[in-house]
Amino acid sequence: MSFNKKTYTTILLVVYMVVATLYVAAELQRFHHFPTKPDRSLDILVVGDWGRRGLYNQSNVAHQMGKIGEKLDVDFIVSAGDNFYEDGLIDEEDPLFDESFTQVYTAKSLQKQWYSVLGNHDYRGNVLAQLSPALKQKDSKWLCLRSFIVNSGIVEFFFIDTTPFEDKYFTDEDHDYDWRGVLPREEYLSNLLKEVDMALEKSNATWKIVIGHHTIFSAGSHGNTQELIDQLLPILEAREVDLYINGHDHCLQHISSQNSQLQFLTSGGGSKAWRGEVNQWNPKEMQFYYDGQGFMTLRVTESDISVAFYDVFGEIIHSWSNSKYTHMDS
Ligand SMILES: *[C@@H]1O[C@H](CO)[C@@H](O)[C@H](O)[C@H]1NC(C)=O
Ligand SMILES: *[C@@H]1O[C@H](CO)[C@@H](O)[C@H](O)[C@H]1NC(C)=O
Repeated sequence: MSFNKKTYTTILLVVYMVVATLYVAAELQRFHHFPTKPDRSLDILVVGDWGRRGLYNQSNVAHQMGKIGEKLDVDFIVSAGDNFYEDGLIDEEDPLFDESFTQVYTAKSLQKQWYSVLGNHDYRGNVLAQLSPALKQKDSKWLCLRSFIVNSGIVEFFFIDTTPFEDKYFTDEDHDYDWRGVLPREEYLSNLLKEVDMALEKSNATWKIVIGHHTIFSAGSHGNTQELIDQLLPILEAREVDLYINGHDHCLQHISSQNSQLQFLTSGGGSKAWRGEVNQWNPKEMQFYYDGQGFMTLRVTESDISVAFYDVFGEIIHSWSNSKYTHMDS
């Protein structure tokens, strides 16, 4: 077979167009998880920074999650990342998955769908193993993906893979990170931001909630994440996102933005906490900071959103709510 120059150019052009179409049309994977309660309210639990074989109060937090989860009849559970310490999973057969997840979150009310993102500690292991559908075969409630959307009708959740945003992991000489599927990094990040921006723009949900492992703002020891302040925050503000929920700092924290309705919520108290390092913060923004273990609940209805933080004894230590008039009558 021999091609002349014109045929060759045409083939190249067609290939280029197909690739470009795929590239532009790339969309975040979308799941539907609609409320099942008659009043169409949605209740979820959020826990972050947990997998330590039940140690450092992980089991106590899990026990209280089970009790509160039953009381609220939760629809699903969100993990804000750092699922398996210290270095993610080795492979799909890693016993840590069973010891730190299945054997810990045993309450009946927690046998609901979990939606998980990856944290920086997960990236230190075999990321493809943690994302593998093989884990769902072991424990059907498990689902971990890099970036995806859960549409619950009145509320839409946008899960974002935040680890690749942080420059310092790319120069960290003490740890290896599994960047398979992330490189080239610039392309990965710019695609992701484009997809998130597009999905937020198109969203019809009354409430928009973004979830990532890393902090945007935090008074904890990790503190703010400048890369996310620069690259993600402007999108969240422009698209009128209601909540940004993260882990990373091992605390429970609520910061209110002074520029927008955005609330920054840290639920990173799934296991090891009590670091004893809290930085000064503008008291007009800082609503709540707790250095210890616990988790967060979120309740959403057509007109209201409310969050509560619980400690290891199952006591509510902070709560907040907001209302919105829906546009049904306008
Ligand atoms: C477990 O929780 C209790 C109550 O908050 C706390 O006093 C204790 O230090 C915690 N244990 C660890 C290992 O963090
Ligand atoms: C938003 O609503 C419009 C009009 O009803 C519909 O065409 C569109 O698919 C909806 N968008 C999403 C993301 O559900």
